[in-house]
Amino acid sequence: MVPVTAQRTRSVHDAARARLTEAGVWDVEGDLAALRERFLAVETPAALARFETAVAERCRRIPLGHITGSTEFDGLELVVGSGVFVPRRESTTLVARVAEDTTLPYRGTVLDLCSGVGALGLALSRRRPDAAVTCVERDDTCLQYLRRNVARNEAVLGGVTVLAADLTAPGCLDAYRGRTDLVMANPPYVAPDVRLLPEWSEHQPRAAVYSGADGLDLIRRIAVLAAAALRPGGRLALEHDRAQPEQVRELLHGHAFEEITTCVDTAGEPRITVARRTDQEGTT
Ligand SMILES: C[S@@+](CC[C@H](N)C(=O)[O-])C[C@H]1O[C@@H](n2cnc3c(N)ncnc32)[C@H](O)[C@@H]1O
Repeated sequence: MVPVTAQRTRSVHDAARARLTEAGVWDVEGDLAALRERFLAVETPAALARFETAVAERCRRIPLGHITGSTEFDGLELVVGSGVFVPRRESTTLVARVAEDTTLPYRGTVLDLCSGVGALGLALSRRRPDAAVTCVERDDTCLQYLRRNVARNEAVLGGVTVLAADLTAPGCLDAYRGRTDLVMANPPYVAPDVRLLPEWSEHQPRAAVYSGADGLDLIRRIAVLAAAALRPGGRLALEHDRAQPEQVRELLHGHAFEEITTCVDTAGEPRITVARRTDQEGTT
């Protein structure tokens, strides 16, 4: 292995910082540290070349996780890659909230809808290994990553089942009807006219980000599915856009939910809404 001089490494590193800054990456030092850890564990010419390629990709605003191949989420290392949504750190707020919710009974039944690579479902399972968590996802690439993440984190998880299903298909959650304690979801919810950073608008899968003319198509569907799947008194916890809290609360009111509350995520944005399934039977 041919070593490279410390001076050469420093100069490549300084150039990377300048390029990332110029490209508009918002956490230059954080990204640099992650790229260094992933590609510069050894300082050889080949490693330096891989590091420079990775920096160039990040400058094209390819999500960091797609470049490094993994991301940390709520204490779990999750594998991710091109073609899947990279979990956002801010979504840990939802997991923390439902994990601490005393209404989730011991050995409760939990659905994570639109599971992606499994961030919410697996994080809840780590925090509450007594719960029986089912992760529901439609996309084949996501399902492959999801299954890998379940296997890789098996030692710290409780019972996790993966269900390949399209939530728009009739009867997709019939097996869970009336017997679920908690439904959580971070679905696609962006309206097409919302301007996003290129990481989301260009590089994450469109079906993971956008959902109909107002962004709420899948949330509407989830409200119906959750009202049917939850037992009376069960809880729904949803992530949505910061511009959608009122619309989300309104549509949940129309679908057998009460005690509807919006709370802020770790970035201080009103993106999490939780609600209680009413005690009424057969309202959906
Ligand atoms: C915003 S991503 C969230 C992934 C994960 N929950 C997270 O927080 O990282 C939304 C996910 O919903 C999935 N999805 C979109 N439409 C779906 C549908 N009709 N049925 C099931 N999953 C769907 C996408 O494939 C994508 O993985």
